[in-house]
Amino acid sequence: MRSNFTNNASKQETRVANLRAAQRSYVLCPPHRGKLVDDWVELAGVECPTLDLIESALSRRAQMIGVERNSSILAECRRIHSGRRASWVEGDLINLVMSRDTCLQNAGVLNYDGFHTPGAPLEEALEILGDFAVARQAQASHFLLIINVTTAYLKSTATTLRWIERVFPKYLTGTLPPDLTACVYTSKTKPMVNVQIGYGYDPHSALSAIEGVRLRA
Ligand SMILES: C[S@@+](CC[C@H](N)C(=O)[O-])C[C@H]1O[C@@H](n2cnc3c(N)ncnc32)[C@H](O)[C@@H]1O
Repeated sequence: MRSNFTNNASKQETRVANLRAAQRSYVLCPPHRGKLVDDWVELAGVECPTLDLIESALSRRAQMIGVERNSSILAECRRIHSGRRASWVEGDLINLVMSRDTCLQNAGVLNYDGFHTPGAPLEEALEILGDFAVARQAQASHFLLIINVTTAYLKSTATTLRWIERVFPKYLTGTLPPDLTACVYTSKTKPMVNVQIGYGYDPHSALSAIEGVRLRA
């Protein structure tokens, strides 16, 4: 079984940009070490393609935490990535975040990379993730939260960008104003948005050929 997301250039471009956004933090990626020192948490998905990209960017004390609620997808990740710099956690990411599960205790980056239906569930998730990011920032001073979701119901790029400007600042409040970069792209046929929110620093990493906005929440 191959992921729907591998071999997709735009999706891969967002993965690369997300790594770059994390590397822009001198706390998450201290210049003298040149590697990410905290864990990278992400919805794993089929074969967890992000692991291939980020593994060599992780320092010895950091790992990828692949979270997945589909047990067969997770079992396959465990099997094919045995011995890699990764841990696999079965469960719902939002529930794990809400309960401050110990698997998240060294998180420096969290990528909520799931398809989504419009309205309340996403906004509820944003609130929970935003609270967690603020708490992590208080402990570690920098944190990167990535929200990567479908926006099929928003119809156009312009509407999507207006939606980001309307919805995100409402939920993403912190002690230091988070800095937000968003880009709109197409994963296969699905319109998607990839939003990078830097807590305590500016994660801006320009994405070529993808429309984007930047704002301070
Ligand atoms: C879009 S895929 C992840 C893609 C992957 N990060 C990549 O770079 O290709 C989303 C995966 O997360 C799982 N998923 C979606 N929402 C979840 C949640 N709240 N908690 C745990 N797993 C979830 C789905 O089963 C699916 O396999």
